Amino acid sequence: MLEHVIDMLACPHCGDPLALRERSLRCRRGHAFDVARQGYVTLLPGEARPGGDTSEMVEARAAFLAAGHYRPLVDAVAATAERFLADGPSGGVVELGAGTGQQLAQVLERAPGRAGLALDLSRAAARRAARAHPRIGAVVCDVWRRLPVRSGAAALVLDVFAPRNGPEIRRVLHPRGALVVASAAPRHLAELVERLGLLRVDERKPERIEQALGAGLERVERRVREFELELTRTDAERLVAMGPSAWHTEPSALRERLADLPEPVRVGASVVVSAYRPV
Ligand SMILES: C[S@@+](CC[C@H](N)C(=O)[O-])C[C@H]1O[C@@H](n2cnc3c(N)ncnc32)[C@H](O)[C@@H]1O
Ligand SMILES: [Zn+2]
Repeated sequence: MLEHVIDMLACPHCGDPLALRERSLRCRRGHAFDVARQGYVTLLPGEARPGGDTSEMVEARAAFLAAGHYRPLVDAVAATAERFLADGPSGGVVELGAGTGQQLAQVLERAPGRAGLALDLSRAAARRAARAHPRIGAVVCDVWRRLPVRSGAAALVLDVFAPRNGPEIRRVLHPRGALVVASAAPRHLAELVERLGLLRVDERKPERIEQALGAGLERVERRVREFELELTRTDAERLVAMGPSAWHTEPSALRERLADLPEPVRVGASVVVSAYRPV
């Protein structure tokens, strides 16, 4: 609910604090943002528009996560977040590109009393995140712009398979806070990528992430998690539909290749979970 995160939010036009009045958020200068019926709010500056994942992608992701295939990853991220929050400062948890909010909900389950702010450019994602946990507030915003979040408000920032804006993450993090990042390793889902002709994970991705985060964040931990997925064809189809290949693969060719998959399809997941501290 937005009540839980209102103290963390900042006006996307002027950066002032926001207050919740009836069904809208307002700053002192009179900038106002309506709360959507589904409980989220859009905090974008004038010319910017929502975008990000389509509702089909979000639904595919929700169904895939609900089947529990990424449970080892969700648990690994939640356990890492819990450790950093245990001796961390007061403040909320902010997730960039939070999608359905499932990951943030698991972190909040292990952090009683903390609020979670789910940021995503997709309205469909925000709709789902708003009801993923009672202490989540969901905001539609573009994480490549200035985040509509007050400086130092986050005890923890989460970023799981989502865009990473290092300087803004650094700004919203409390000086004693931490950033937890999960990203795909080059071997992630390799068998499926091969068989279906999907987009490959760039071999240099881990390096690129470090560079993209910039000098204000220093890596303090890095663990590779590998586990096996046993998928039905429907699961495999969802996995494709929820990722970037959904934009880039010719649908009829993909349907044919999916139909040729053995069942169950055994696929290796390989994910890097890292933690960073502000410097
Ligand atoms: C691969 S999904 C990951 C979702 C979630 N973290 C998870 O692991 O289930 C990437 C998410 O980033 C969002 N996204 C993409 N570009 C964005 C942007 N510029 N600002 C905010 N969110 C963005 C998408 O809408 C999508 O929900
Ligand atoms: Zn304002």
